[in-house]
Amino acid sequence: YQSNEMEQKFEDQLESLLQKLPKKHKFGREFAQYNGFWFLAANLRGMLRFREHFKETRDSDIILATMPKSGTTWLKALTWSIVNREKYPISESPLLYNNPHGLVPFLEAELYARPKIPDIESMPDPRIFATHVLYQCLPNTMLEGSSCKVIYICRNPLDVFTSWLHFLLQNDAFPQGLDRDQSMFVNEVFQAFCEDTFHYGPFWDHVLGYWQASLNNPEKVLFLKYEDLQTDINSSVRKIAEFLGYCFSKKEENEGLFEEIAKLCSFQNLKNLDCNKYGETQNHVFKSKNSSYFRKGKVGDWVDFLSPSMAERLQSLTQDKLAGSGLTL
Ligand code: A3P
Repeated sequence: YQSNEMEQKFEDQLESLLQKLPKKHKFGREFAQYNGFWFLAANLRGMLRFREHFKETRDSDIILATMPKSGTTWLKALTWSIVNREKYPISESPLLYNNPHGLVPFLEAELYARPKIPDIESMPDPRIFATHVLYQCLPNTMLEGSSCKVIYICRNPLDVFTSWLHFLLQNDAFPQGLDRDQSMFVNEVFQAFCEDTFHYGPFWDHVLGYWQASLNNPEKVLFLKYEDLQTDINSSVRKIAEFLGYCFSKKEENEGLFEEIAKLCSFQNLKNLDCNKYGETQNHVFKSKNSSYFRKGKVGDWVDFLSPSMAERLQSLTQDKLAGSGLTL
């Protein structure tokens, strides 16, 4: 009873905070600005609940952080397979019959999406969580209170934007937009992406937050690029495993386990599994087709979709925003 009362009190505080924040309505959805970043109001509620209620981080916890459309699904599949490889031989991997999002839950968009505090205590170790929350907004218990590991994956913003666009269109996520002329919808999403009033944006500040954290504390934060995984997946699998302390033994190396995990989690393999071809994933914000997480999986696909002026604008924004950081995208 007491905990219900506390939950309710927090929910009341949350609503009164939300009322005071700057808001914008875009594509029929309400976005709110918090700490300089824009969130769907529903995701912001989830993030604030997660910060309030996620009290105890375990040293063995693994946090997978991304900007949406940067390779979250891939990173979930790889990390899950690396840390669970002793429990499940590759040929019996639950990834063969589960969408990767079903194995690694999102904190703000899933576990804490509703007022009821989830039971994460009973999750077996190592617990793997995913989040789109910016580094600065992760709860202190994760940042300083434990030696849990954080892996971030980023991707060229031109491909991220292109991927977003298709994802939204495939899932009818913004029906108001679809009623209108499609090019108007594209322009509207583009403006929002560039002007920072888009999911978890500004994109560049999100990336820079984790980039800086990885420079300050490389033992805690591993910073990856989607493009690097595409270039050399075997080295990336090794890097993730070593960072997490799940190094491959000589025997495993000789048996080709790197390659097996990389193959299991490859775009072609996952895309063609029934669990990813069919079915839907419902979270509190919208329903998404499992297949919409596996579109093309290519680097540079933006060339077929962005006009030269759009590409130029995103490239020059990226150059300006990342200037002096040592990071290139
Ligand atoms: P495209 O739309 O460019 O194809 P997220 O998982 O963060 O939502 O990102 C989705 C993007 O990652 C999509 O990009 C999707 O095709 C790609 N993707 C999903 N699984 C992948 C995999 N196993 N390997 C490479 N890319 C993958």
